[in-house]
Amino acid sequence: MRLLERIKSRLRRHLWKAINKEAFEEDFIRILPDTQKDAARFLFYGNATAEEKRIAKLIEANRSQIIATAKELHSFSSPHSGTFKKDAKGHATAGPYTSSPAKAVAMTGVKKKGGILIKRITTGLGARRILELGTHTGFSGCYFLTCPQVEQLVTVEGSKDLCEIADRNLRRISNKFIIMNMLFDDAIDQLSHNREKFDCVFIDGQHEREATWHYMKRVMPLLNDGGSIIFDDIYWSDDMNQLWKEICNSLDFSVTLDLQSKGVAILRSGEEAKVHYDICEYVGRSRIFRKGW
Ligand SMILES: C[S@@+](CC[C@H](N)C(=O)[O-])C[C@H]1O[C@@H](n2cnc3c(N)ncnc32)[C@H](O)[C@@H]1O
Repeated sequence: MRLLERIKSRLRRHLWKAINKEAFEEDFIRILPDTQKDAARFLFYGNATAEEKRIAKLIEANRSQIIATAKELHSFSSPHSGTFKKDAKGHATAGPYTSSPAKAVAMTGVKKKGGILIKRITTGLGARRILELGTHTGFSGCYFLTCPQVEQLVTVEGSKDLCEIADRNLRRISNKFIIMNMLFDDAIDQLSHNREKFDCVFIDGQHEREATWHYMKRVMPLLNDGGSIIFDDIYWSDDMNQLWKEICNSLDFSVTLDLQSKGVAILRSGEEAKVHYDICEYVGRSRIFRKGW
């Protein structure tokens, strides 16, 4: 059944793209900021360059290594919607800390397509210092580290098991990273105390509406002027999709861009008018993965 659904969805997307190719170029790409055209074109055409394919091959080769080195690994799973709680310090309570087979863990996080997409988004944004909430085994981090302009990646992960794997994984690509093995709120406290600044924050953990809104508000002061936040999994659940709609309506941002699974929001720096771009009108909208989760 799942296979049939996947085939139907793929066919629907191919057909949708074929019908919309002209409109995509003339109505969408024409008005999209130049900085995000490469990312949008990649989603529409899947046109990875030879260099991107080489990088993706190098990064992906490490998944089998992870499976070979461990049996079970711990991570914080995303809590159900409506279960958001804060402690006395105002910190969000993390989701359940559970263990899963290494094989399942290795398959979590961005794959080749998502990796090239975040690489193009952040390269377009010119982000030199990136903060990531949710390191996992370091695959998204590997893609960030291959962006030519990136000077440093600071990535936060609560699971010690995963930090050790991520450290080995990221080190194969570059040494321009710091892993903070702690809960997101503790890391944000530390970064705020040290007055650290970033050009871009990737929020990819604790996928629940109120938790994501909480972390979004907390990382905003860490952003440089015109900085941006990339939200992962905006079609993961009804709850996460509702959050994305609220972000699109929020006056905190001057630009919001729906790139299917990823939402990009650029911080407002003055009185500029709000603009929203939605690629799903041209490539087809993702189905909500876990209804009502
Ligand atoms: C979806 S995975 C990140 C995937 C990764 N960005 C990638 O694409 O390769 C989310 C990670 O966030 C971590 N996490 C979730 N909630 C957390 C919290 N409150 N504090 C620290 N880590 C957390 C989980 O343990 C998990 O490894």
